[in-house]
Amino acid sequence: MLWDARGEARRVPMTTLDALPYPIAIDTDISAALAQFVKSRGRRVVVLADRNVEGRAEALARAIGRKTPVLAVSLGERRKTLRTVEAVLNALAAAGADRETLVIGVGGGVAGDLFGFAAATYMRGVPFVNVATSLVAMVDASIGGKTGVDLGAGKNLAGAFRDPLAVFCDVGSLATLPEKHLREGLAELVKHGIIEGNEAFEALETLAPHPLRKWPWETVVADSLRIKAMFVAEDRLEAGAREILNLGHTVGHAIERVTNYRTSHGHAVSIGLRAAGLLALRTDRFSNEEHLRVLALLALLGLPLIAPTGDINALLAAMAHDKKARAGALRFVLPRTLGDVEYGVTVPARTVRAVLGRVRQAPGNAEFR
Ligand SMILES: NC(=O)c1ccc[n+]([C@@H]2O[C@H](COP(=O)([O-])OP(=O)(O)OC[C@H]3O[C@@H](n4cnc5c(N)ncnc54)[C@H](O)[C@@H]3O)[C@@H](O)[C@H]2O)c1
Ligand SMILES: [Zn+2]
Repeated sequence: MLWDARGEARRVPMTTLDALPYPIAIDTDISAALAQFVKSRGRRVVVLADRNVEGRAEALARAIGRKTPVLAVSLGERRKTLRTVEAVLNALAAAGADRETLVIGVGGGVAGDLFGFAAATYMRGVPFVNVATSLVAMVDASIGGKTGVDLGAGKNLAGAFRDPLAVFCDVGSLATLPEKHLREGLAELVKHGIIEGNEAFEALETLAPHPLRKWPWETVVADSLRIKAMFVAEDRLEAGAREILNLGHTVGHAIERVTNYRTSHGHAVSIGLRAAGLLALRTDRFSNEEHLRVLALLALLGLPLIAPTGDINALLAAMAHDKKARAGALRFVLPRTLGDVEYGVTVPARTVRAVLGRVRQAPGNAEFR
């Protein structure tokens, strides 16, 4: 299924993708669509691959033909550094890549961010195609044009906004993605479900009791990605509405920082979604019933609801440090109802403190006081 820039999807109506300037393909096997796309470009091609999906990248290179070289790199969050970018740039030069060379990056979110950044800087920028092989990459990282790497001082601090030429979600490759990493993407699916509201949220409630490996991933990815794409299209440089996508992330990022990243991003966002629900409840935005539905869904998906730290001052300091905090005031993205989420909401400090204390405890009746 290939969506063009006018949103002409063959399987899913994609009117909201109209404003995204690049096509997105979502299929169990994207090799034919990728080969076709490359052919129509008529350029030299180099494939960059996360070593963990090297076999898949080799298969894609064979589908493209023309003796397309595959350069495999060991990645992982710890290698998402400028040093790895330098190694990739040198490898591109050694492979004879020039300004016209199309670079295809294959892998998860780390690969997309790092290879995308390398492509944005190689010879001041060469065309890049993102082949997403993890759930996080498919529903989140590959869309939106943010590329970059981590610095010692923090995550994603060096980078560039650069749209890919196209995005391919290689849904079949999820079969080899370890369950732990598949689960990482679930919190973002729930986040998108809360933003989109009823149908999207209910679809997740229906799927949640079923084993992850049996989910209809092609549809799930398409539906979830559409929600991110809609906000990105509206706000490409993250000046406003795109902040909605930060739902659950203000507290989530703080938990990641305070626990020194021992809490994974997906887990932190799950707890952050509970915190956002609590903040919304206590500022009379959200209903008990819907808050409980969100908690029940997160729990059913095996995601945590209890913060691993009760150090409220450290969490507040981390939130203030978050690049999304503007002019000192803590701003939150909070649900009013499933399908209606507000951004830029300021909440009284004592309410924030009370909620940070509450998420340290198991959910229960006190949730609604
Ligand atoms: N640019 C953005 O807007 C954006 C958005 C969200 C996340 N991110 C970034 O994405 C990264 C997280 O992404 P991630 O969870 O995909 O991490 P990841 O890329 O490290 O992938 C997780 C693990 O799965 C492996 N893997 C990936 N696909 C596989 C497959 N099909 N089969 C077997 N193994 C596979 C990887 O090698 C890695 O070990 C973070 O660095 C985060 O900052 C970026
Ligand atoms: Zn996230």
